[in-house]
Amino acid sequence: MEFYMAPMEGLTGYIVRNAYHHHFHNVDKYFTPFIPAAKRMNTKILRDIDPENNKGISLIPQLMTNNAEEVIFMHKQLAEYGYDEININLGCPSGTVASKKRGSGLLAYPEELDHFLDDLFSQADFPVSIKTRIGYAQEEEWEVLAGIYAKYPIHELIIHPRTRQDLYKLPVRPATFAHALETIPLSLCYNGDIIDENSYEAVCSQFPSIHKIMIGRGLFRNPGLISSIKGEPLPDKNTLRSYHDEILDGYLSIFSGEKDALFRMKEHWFYLGNAFENADKYCKVIRKTSKMTEYRQVVNGIFANCPLK
Ligand SMILES: Cc1cc2nc3c(=O)[nH]c(=O)nc-3n(C[C@H](O)[C@H](O)[C@H](O)COP(=O)(O)O)c2cc1C
Repeated sequence: MEFYMAPMEGLTGYIVRNAYHHHFHNVDKYFTPFIPAAKRMNTKILRDIDPENNKGISLIPQLMTNNAEEVIFMHKQLAEYGYDEININLGCPSGTVASKKRGSGLLAYPEELDHFLDDLFSQADFPVSIKTRIGYAQEEEWEVLAGIYAKYPIHELIIHPRTRQDLYKLPVRPATFAHALETIPLSLCYNGDIIDENSYEAVCSQFPSIHKIMIGRGLFRNPGLISSIKGEPLPDKNTLRSYHDEILDGYLSIFSGEKDALFRMKEHWFYLGNAFENADKYCKVIRKTSKMTEYRQVVNGIFANCPLK
């Protein structure tokens, strides 16, 4: 099985990718959080894709766009940094994105999606992969969308089997993924709700022909998830501590104030708190604190007092 780390805006930038890669080295492919394709890349994005900041990491830039010319334009810029494959985001459920017919918003307009892909694949001389949901409002939309995807030489189709309206909460819809496997002659990757070995095994037994899995939240709730799936030694507290410290030090080195680093670490603990027993009261303090000294004390408390799950 190949494992991909799901792109997560605010979480899977290069600092976290590197920390994960240094400590767990079991992800085969990483994706950048989405890059808006309409403008030139700003310093933050350039820093995130800089090959110097992604050594040894197989990284695919992801674009947020519904316009073929924008993809071609961005590819030209990204190629200068050594990137060839481009991933297109057709899954983002955010209202501001979807209302502009981007991300999952484009799925509500199959004719426009078809036109975009037709335009794109008639020009692109590089691999284009897509990360998609299975519809905008309802599951029944999938058949038409699957028919559209099946027409194009998409390098890889990553499917998160939820509609836009399902957001990240309602149950995934495995029947749509089964339909995709039967009807779309492309290389497919499954993404959604793999949080432990059981959910991984369930996906593998439902879809035995799948060889590529993308995991997002599960990896941040339990950074040892892929190790446990692969039957490799599980990370101990020292490894997790060193992973955490690399992320914190990385954030402190790029942000001018501690507040920004603290904000990012809070997002991290939203997931990482689940890796420890009885960490709720500590995580509550992390959520509320505005002081780095207090943050460090609480994290010391978690590592000293909470067993790993
Ligand atoms: C906070 C957050 C940020 C995300 N940012 C992106 C993004 O930039 N690009 C993208 O394709 N998906 C993004 N996603 C979706 C994830 O890549 C993934 O599809 C989703 O979390 C479902 O997979 P999981 O159940 O393994 O987490 C984001 C999800 C979350 C929760």
